[in-house]
Amino acid sequence: MGINDRVAVVTGSGQGIGLSIAERLAEGAARVVINDIDPDRVSSVSDELGSKGYEVSGFCGDVSKKEGAQGLIDHALERFGRIDILVNNAGIARDKWLIKMSEEDWDEVIRINLKSQFLTTQAAAKHMMDSGYGRIVNIGSRAWLGGAGQANYSASKGGVVSLTRTLALEFAKYQITANAVAPGLVDTALFRSLSPETQDKLTKTVPIGRVGGPEQIAHAVAFFADDDSWYITGQVMYVCGGRSIGAY
Ligand SMILES: NC(=O)c1ccc[n+]([C@@H]2O[C@H](COP(=O)([O-])OP(=O)(O)OC[C@H]3O[C@@H](n4cnc5c(N)ncnc54)[C@H](O)[C@@H]3O)[C@@H](O)[C@H]2O)c1
Repeated sequence: MGINDRVAVVTGSGQGIGLSIAERLAEGAARVVINDIDPDRVSSVSDELGSKGYEVSGFCGDVSKKEGAQGLIDHALERFGRIDILVNNAGIARDKWLIKMSEEDWDEVIRINLKSQFLTTQAAAKHMMDSGYGRIVNIGSRAWLGGAGQANYSASKGGVVSLTRTLALEFAKYQITANAVAPGLVDTALFRSLSPETQDKLTKTVPIGRVGGPEQIAHAVAFFADDDSWYITGQVMYVCGGRSIGAY
């Protein structure tokens, strides 16, 4: 992989998809900053990856707040001296029918899923512009196409697509690319907490007939993060077994 010796920051990498992304980049020889809002997750993932011989460093902070986002980028610079790859992965869902959605449900999801990407990118981009190199990978969702019961989540992920396309234009001349990965159903703890019947029903809507794991999302992120992906920018890659085309 063309990420040898690069420095990567992965937000929300204390579990789930972010953890897989961090491990995948570390396997490819990048030095990786682990971030989460949950301090126990930061230390357990840093210990776990460190014990496998990977060069990682943990930073606990809320990337939806300016101090947390700036603190994360400052930490990466202090620890590793530069920042080459930024993966904006932290995200939450607060699904409800619009008619029952509170203002807090709306604000929290937009703040964590979308504003965080603005804040971390703004903090990191200055350094990427100075070095004339950068790979920004934003985690969106297939749900940006629309999802009943997910007005706040779908809108936040639609914002991720627009943000990504705009970053691609603004930063292209600095050799910084910006792309988005849009996962569909992913076999995480959340999916496994559903009843076997619901899991089965949902799986049947995936054209390819099975649900991907966090590793499939990490694979797409690693592709965009690669040195060789310099001519690919402003793109959205669906990783959803064909579900973006339509339910099967
Ligand atoms: N799991 C899926 O099926 C799925 C599908 C499509 C898109 N996604 C997207 O993938 C990303 C990761 O999802 P996941 O399923 O791994 O979620 P997850 O809940 O398992 O992990 C997310 C991590 O982010 C951390 N986090 C939350 N808010 C934070 C903040 N403000 N600052 C720092 N860390 C924060 C959490 O503590 C958690 O450890 C999200 O952006 C999500 O919207 C997930």
